[in-house]
Amino acid sequence: MASKSTQVQVSLGDRSYPIFIGSDEIRNADIARYVSGKKVLIVTNETIVPLYLESLQQQLSDKHVDSVILADGERHKNLETLNLIFDQLIGGHHDRKTTLIALGGGVVGDMTGFAAACYQRGVPFIQIPTTLLAQVDSSVGGKTAVNHAMGKNMIGAFYQPQAVIIDTDTLSTLPDREFYAGLAEVIKYGLIVDADFFQWLENNIDLLLQRDKRALAYAIELSCKSKARIVAEDETEQGIRAILNLGHTFGHAIETFQNYKQWIHGEAVAAGMVMAAELSVVTGDLPEADLQRTKALLQRCSLPVTPPADMTSDDFARLMLRDKKVLDGQLRLVLLKRLGEAWVTDQFSIDHLNQVLTKACAAS
Ligand code: NAD
Ligand code: GLY
Repeated sequence: MASKSTQVQVSLGDRSYPIFIGSDEIRNADIARYVSGKKVLIVTNETIVPLYLESLQQQLSDKHVDSVILADGERHKNLETLNLIFDQLIGGHHDRKTTLIALGGGVVGDMTGFAAACYQRGVPFIQIPTTLLAQVDSSVGGKTAVNHAMGKNMIGAFYQPQAVIIDTDTLSTLPDREFYAGLAEVIKYGLIVDADFFQWLENNIDLLLQRDKRALAYAIELSCKSKARIVAEDETEQGIRAILNLGHTFGHAIETFQNYKQWIHGEAVAAGMVMAAELSVVTGDLPEADLQRTKALLQRCSLPVTPPADMTSDDFARLMLRDKKVLDGQLRLVLLKRLGEAWVTDQFSIDHLNQVLTKACAAS
């Protein structure tokens, strides 16, 4: 298992950067080292401020530090909120050497990254993710975005941070529901690229659910290593990076159906991963026993394994066609060849997909 502090590298030539993972990392990591200019703008939200803002500010006492405190929630991940960040940057006379620091979950991280990509055509930024989901997924790999009223993450850019600082202690204040949702993304890495990790998760799930620090640091490290490897191979999702979206086409349909008001992302992804695994069984690739293992592990994390009761297969069919993986009208899905190996394919029959959708909706 991981020692107190671990480093994972995202290798992207001159845009490479480290991910630091450890206990009390906000204080232990030399954050100022990744701030080249004199000024910093910390972007965070009203929930995070009383928890972690002061300890971050203390680490930057040699810099001129401004903060912008956003309203909390996915519904604020939009251009209007982005403008509040720009207001603060311009009003505070921040120049091109200013560094933005995202302190919060994926919502804060995605918005800060996009603001950094746009402000004066690009300023450096640092990710300090404080949810499990952000630590294992959204803070790594440079996808940044805001939502549009007609679609999630529709306006964004690929823009890599200077560093990712993962302080595992921040997970102690995370609500259970958010923690479980993050575990869905951790399990995803086992399913898509690492069968041994999947088995480790099965064996250590009790420790993880107790938020054991060593177990968590290890799970975060392995997740970040898998993501870093995939991103290094395919930064802008021309191919293999799409496997990171296992279950997401089904999951996004659920989130859109509910207008982002009921299930949170990791919950929708959990049910979606089961549907993708079911289709992988029907297409003859994944053994039924591995589908059952997947369901059992997600259920141990209190995650849903069937779609919301009020969704029909027609709802899925309609909403899935809006997915960003639809190319030239052709639906492509991430499926499992076996446990630990995912692929992106349009090689499935619509009859098989309908069969899975109908069965899944009947089971809920
Ligand atoms: P979030 O940012 O909304 O955080 C969830 C909740 O937890 C919020 O209320 C937040 O204020 C609170 N919170 C955060 N850290 C906390 C802590 N340590 N203690 C107590 N409360 C805390 O949600 P999320 O799940 O972190 O991120 C979801 C977002 O990430 C979505 O917008 C999604 O589109 C995006 N995302 C992006 C990528 C990517 O590659 N860029 C990948 C996956 C998800
Ligand atoms: N979360 C999917 C990706 O980063 O590509």
